[in-house]
Amino acid sequence: MNLPNLKEARIRTKDKVEVKRDEYKVSDIVKNYFKDKKYLVITYGCQMNVHDSENFKAIMEDMNMIETDSMEDADLILLNTCAIRENAHNKVMGMLGRIKHLKEEKKDIITILAGCMAQEEIITNEIKSKYKWVDLVIGTHNIHKLPLYLETVIKEHKQDIEVFSIEGDIIEGIPSKRDSKYKAWVNIMYGCDKFCTYCIVPYTRGKQRSRLPEDIINEVKELKENGYKEVTLLGQNVNAYGKDLDIDYTMANLLEDTAKTGIDRIRFVTSHPWDFTDDMIDIIAKYSNIMPYIHLPLQSGSTKILKAMGRRYTKEEYITLFNKIKERIPNVSITTDIIVGFPNETDEDFQDTLDLVNMLKYDLAYTFIYSPREGTPASKIKDTIPLSIKKERLAKLNKLINKYALENNKKYKDKVVEVLIEGYADKDNKLMGYTDTMKLVNVDGNENNIGKIVKVKITDVKTWSMDGKIVD
Ligand code: 5AD
Ligand code: SF4
Repeated sequence: MNLPNLKEARIRTKDKVEVKRDEYKVSDIVKNYFKDKKYLVITYGCQMNVHDSENFKAIMEDMNMIETDSMEDADLILLNTCAIRENAHNKVMGMLGRIKHLKEEKKDIITILAGCMAQEEIITNEIKSKYKWVDLVIGTHNIHKLPLYLETVIKEHKQDIEVFSIEGDIIEGIPSKRDSKYKAWVNIMYGCDKFCTYCIVPYTRGKQRSRLPEDIINEVKELKENGYKEVTLLGQNVNAYGKDLDIDYTMANLLEDTAKTGIDRIRFVTSHPWDFTDDMIDIIAKYSNIMPYIHLPLQSGSTKILKAMGRRYTKEEYITLFNKIKERIPNVSITTDIIVGFPNETDEDFQDTLDLVNMLKYDLAYTFIYSPREGTPASKIKDTIPLSIKKERLAKLNKLINKYALENNKKYKDKVVEVLIEGYADKDNKLMGYTDTMKLVNVDGNENNIGKIVKVKITDVKTWSMDGKIVD
């Protein structure tokens, strides 16, 4: 048993990050025990978690298990959790309630709590004392050891908690069962050292550590050989890629080398304005297979609040970067994240955010009400702003964001754009896919279009999506 520890999670040393290549093993004991048993993975949170779930799924298949999408059918349920805001946490607790109910009928269901919530001291303590029926709690640093822990669970029939509050290593060789045959997530780095004052991620994911360039490029080459059309390079703060490596190699270098593999489409998330260099902008502009789409979290339009958030840039510096990207990358679309109601955000501070949105006219924004996270510096600030005001601000901001989303989309009407067709949309038997600029497009078409980049004429635009006709 290993419990998380908030104080240890905060530590950053100069210790060298180890790249471990032979750590992943699946014993015959688990392979035999789990043969033909059914697993269900339920994922909450960001793309990083989505990709971790692809790892979990492949690991379970190496244990001879079969995927199911039904809770009732499952012999094993794994919740891959998110800690970023309170509501993600509430959803998981609700789901645990449902599983407990199921377990009353079907005693042998194995329940696993994984992901960022597992790394939180308060959560793991709660699971240990009040949720004794949860079989295994596994953190973000040791996904590859799942088979080993399950062996203990099936032998000892008691709760096991294996969560490490460490800076973390790089584990290569974990398999992936990818959700798509055309688009793939590729981790380029783990963790974060920015410690924005509201954010739990540096505590749940460890220190910033970059994968070696050759490991990333080889993964992209292999994906391309297997017919993948698009890769998204993943990290909490991708622009800082390489800063922790012994070699002189930056995100701009990585983008260029990835572009040279010849894969059709390259995206990357998430960028921090702090590390966005001119070299990166030049490389994105130079290569047509690096998509003209940048997610550039703003968080607040008030320099005072940005300072309190520990974001390391002023409103003016953000505007300068934004304009530089717009000028140098033709047709670029820019989206953002904004938090409203950071402790003691005044009406004037919030107005600064609205003013900035009016000035920059984002293609889209993901907006959130600030949620205090235990152990972060911001959670200790006494907040005088009532929730009702925060909700009003969020509604006002969303209205403005939607206005500009529609305005930006209108520019696409009657234009011909390239769309990677991913599959069927949920409704109307239409196909769906994204433009290079990350606009969701629904089109009429058939099976043969799936997995291809096709030319589409846009016939109608809405706030969140567009309709179009395939023209070749
Ligand atoms: N409360 C609200 N939103 C948050 N985010 C991160 N931490 C918090 C928090 N404590 C938002 C930020 C980030 C996005 C992934 O989630 O906007 O960019
Ligand atoms: Fe959190 Fe800031 Fe790191 Fe993003 S850059 S993961 S917001 S600490």
